Amino acid sequence: MEKLTGLKKIKTAVFISGTGSNLKNLIKFAKFKKSPISINLIISNIKAKGLNYADQFGIKKKIFSFKNIKTSEKNILILIKKEKINFICLAGFMKILSKDFIKKFNGKIINIHPSLLPKYKGLNTHERAIKDKNKFTGCTVHYVSSKLDSGKIILQRKIKITSKDSPTSLAKKVLKQEHKFYPAAIMKIFN
Ligand code: GAR
Repeated sequence: MEKLTGLKKIKTAVFISGTGSNLKNLIKFAKFKKSPISINLIISNIKAKGLNYADQFGIKKKIFSFKNIKTSEKNILILIKKEKINFICLAGFMKILSKDFIKKFNGKIINIHPSLLPKYKGLNTHERAIKDKNKFTGCTVHYVSSKLDSGKIILQRKIKITSKDSPTSLAKKVLKQEHKFYPAAIMKIFN
């Protein structure tokens, strides 16, 4: 990934599908002078709750249904080019991007996943970690490759699972760490 030159921040799009707590956190991070990125676009596949942050912070937002993946991705690429976006952060985005799309943005899409990858790719990570009696879980920030949750790992945070943990309590605990480690991973990439 290129180093930052001067004071220009890298125009970034965040893709979401849910509550957008990571999005909100990234928006706040991006406002710091030290942040290498600015958040200029928010994309979702549904009317996600997190889209409210677009209005709150005055950031452009757009929904693409992904009913036809090809059409949606084609239109996303047009918008991204128009907005001069050069980096994409997936933050709870629940659609799988096509190989073609990833290739066009090679090395410039990152994702946060609520497990210690390569363990528990896909959904219901907390339920699976508890069911398997794991002592630890965590979160992983990684580059997006054409294989689900399999790209090069940028940063990983280990979190203890206690006997009292439920999938809900664990999700809460992990999310709190995600908010620390997503910005940290971005700093690691660009510095
Ligand atoms: C986060 O826990 C994120 O790691 C997860 O969805 C949640 C989104 O929360 N992502 C995935 O499971 C992707 N495979 P948020 O909408 O509050 O940021």
